Amino acid sequence: MNKNFWKNKKVLITGHTGFKGSWLTLILSSYGAKIYGYALNPISKPNFFDNLNLKKYLIHDFREDILNFKKLKTVIKMIKPQIIIHLAAQSSVLESYKTPKETISVNVVGTANLLEASKTCKSVRAIVIATTDKVYLNLEKKKSFSEKDMLGGHDIYSGSKAATEIIIQSYFKSFFKKNNCNLAAVRSGNCIGGGDWTKDRIVKDCAENFIKNKNLIIRHPKATRPWQHVMEPLFGYLKLTKKLYGNSKYCGSWNFGPRKKNNLKVIEVAKFGKKFLNSKSKIKIKKSNFYESTNLSLNSKKAFKYLKWKTRLSAKLSLELAFEWYKFYADKKSKLKVIDFTFKQIGFYKKILKGKKYEVQKL
Ligand SMILES: NC(=O)c1ccc[n+]([C@@H]2O[C@H](COP(=O)([O-])OP(=O)(O)OC[C@H]3O[C@@H](n4cnc5c(N)ncnc54)[C@H](O)[C@@H]3O)[C@@H](O)[C@H]2O)c1
Repeated sequence: MNKNFWKNKKVLITGHTGFKGSWLTLILSSYGAKIYGYALNPISKPNFFDNLNLKKYLIHDFREDILNFKKLKTVIKMIKPQIIIHLAAQSSVLESYKTPKETISVNVVGTANLLEASKTCKSVRAIVIATTDKVYLNLEKKKSFSEKDMLGGHDIYSGSKAATEIIIQSYFKSFFKKNNCNLAAVRSGNCIGGGDWTKDRIVKDCAENFIKNKNLIIRHPKATRPWQHVMEPLFGYLKLTKKLYGNSKYCGSWNFGPRKKNNLKVIEVAKFGKKFLNSKSKIKIKKSNFYESTNLSLNSKKAFKYLKWKTRLSAKLSLELAFEWYKFYADKKSKLKVIDFTFKQIGFYKKILKGKKYEVQKL
């Protein structure tokens, strides 16, 4: 990663108060970017953003709705960002069953608002928009999806993200191609890492319950997921952004998924967490009536070929980094602050990117 590229770059992160947005804020601040945030207040208590006081890493922290087009346009006009990384979304599959219309509004109309508000802002040269690995038409054939595969969406969240991808393409062809601004959609797998307190996320649920020796209830124990530490796709997005900035060759959609080897069943993750955290909790299984794909894996050869991006962490090390973070957070006796511990994890990952070999239990 060329540090100088990011130094003083004006970057607008939407969804900066969320899980990925918080990590991205810290990573970009470590490269000296001028960061602006646009999002709603964090939902969960506790939350990464407020607990670690991430506001201090921002030039300005806008707490506004992506559906407020007028406000969004004014903010973009005022900041004149060079880069936008759009993470603001309703990000939960389960929640999308409960609030389908809201999910579609925030994810599809929210993205359209962002593109509409940016299309006449000449400072913006690259926009990277997070969709998901769930955008593909998944017929449960244990297939690894590549960027050329058909879009689909069994649940509302997946459908909203697939629709978002089509809107991105339409906006690009209709408006952005003529401007000097390039667009990309980025699809990652299920991300894990410290600081995620979003409801119904398995690693967070494991950490919270196992640390307190409470029993854990899981749904879809046999579902296989491509687990990846949140830093892996985020560093991939940054590699892509750098290329995208001024080069339309990099427009389009990009998979940033882990190796197939990183696929683990939900039950395996829970058992790993229980052992790692030395917990007395019991793991209980509760059947869920909602559909969630059982097999999902991404083919990320394109990212490797053009960006030299690949998964660096094994599933085990990714889980260790995540569980270690929650363990550290819960340990009130530690002298090191959680923010410093988080920067330590970022530093550790940067060393791995430079080719350092790691051992489990490294930190
Ligand atoms: N976390 C994952 O495992 C994962 C995997 C694949 C894709 N993604 C995608 O990456 C992006 C970020 O995910 P995350 O895990 O950080 O999500 P998150 O739920 O932790 O954060 C969502 C962010 O969006 C903001 N937001 C929600 N509704 C908004 C609105 N109406 N107006 C303004 N801001 C709003 C929230 O305030 C928050 O800052 C999302 O697009 C998500 O779908 C996440």
